Amino acid sequence: MLRIGVLTGGGDCPGLNAVIRAIVKRSEKYGFEVVGVKHGWAGMLEREAVPLRYDDVADLLKTGGTILKTSRTNPMKRAGGPETILENMKKMGLDALIAIGGEDTLGAANQLAKRGLKVVGVPKTIDNDLSATDVTFGFDTAVNIATEAIDRIVDTARSHDRVMVVEVMGRHAGWITIYAGMAGGADLILIPEEPFDIEEVADFVKRRMAEGKATVVVVAEGATMKNVKGLIAQDKRLDEFGHVRLGGIGQFLAEEIEKRTGAQTRATVLGYILRGGSPSTYDRVLATRFGVSAVDLVKDGKFGMMVSLRGTKIVPVELEKAVAEIKTVDSELLDAAKTFFG
Ligand code: F6P
Repeated sequence: MLRIGVLTGGGDCPGLNAVIRAIVKRSEKYGFEVVGVKHGWAGMLEREAVPLRYDDVADLLKTGGTILKTSRTNPMKRAGGPETILENMKKMGLDALIAIGGEDTLGAANQLAKRGLKVVGVPKTIDNDLSATDVTFGFDTAVNIATEAIDRIVDTARSHDRVMVVEVMGRHAGWITIYAGMAGGADLILIPEEPFDIEEVADFVKRRMAEGKATVVVVAEGATMKNVKGLIAQDKRLDEFGHVRLGGIGQFLAEEIEKRTGAQTRATVLGYILRGGSPSTYDRVLATRFGVSAVDLVKDGKFGMMVSLRGTKIVPVELEKAVAEIKTVDSELLDAAKTFFG
């Protein structure tokens, strides 16, 4: 009988509880025990954990957030962190660990796997920017929420002949921006993959104003400007993985557009609204399949691997490959979106 630890790290996202539920159910089928590690990697450093039985998690399929709580604790930045975790695995009687997270949590999992940690990864992030999987759960829900918000904002833009700037999450990649922007019929989409020129944005708005048209701009929080080094409107404080706190580009852009065009311009930041709430049908199914497959990898002793979606199949990939680079928006998608900028 195996005893498996499970943790959730990094930003929360819809579907985390659905994965936990699936892990517990599949484990019970095999006669394995599951222990929930609290607050991401912090719980492995502090040995903070609770036993999980299916009755505890059965009703969590549709519940947002994570019952295990999460943190951005980086065990590789703590003195003796990796050694403590390997030691604590023994003290907690754990045979294996399932780490559910994005680039940072899984990056740490990969480093720890190289030091002998028996770990399997499950990819999550609303940003959908993890390599080696076609999709991460949480993304679909976030896109649906953002699209609904854009639909509403389009109404106000058209009614008032205004420029409306909508800022959505997306640190390194514009997946949410481009999907929600396309689905919501945005007039302009600005993503981190392609720095924008503020003069070109202003000229675009002026042309539309001359034609009597309102403009809806959807911008990723991590979008950057041509000829300006670094991120715009960032909070300089860094988290343990070295990321600045983003947010504010929407307001910046709205002010610059208004100054240059004279158009009444308003900004809306969707921010954390995209991270919480009940997962979509798609995310519930993907999260469930990931959880089931992660336990199967543990059962087969395939450590240092991550479950991933390739086409319609769930397949294992090496953690090393999964965290090697960020998955950015491809040019075909951007080209399709640009057809509607005008
Ligand atoms: O990693 C997902 C994400 O939602 C990013 O898009 C965003 O920049 C970040 O999390 C915000 O993180 P925090 O919860 O630490 O403010």
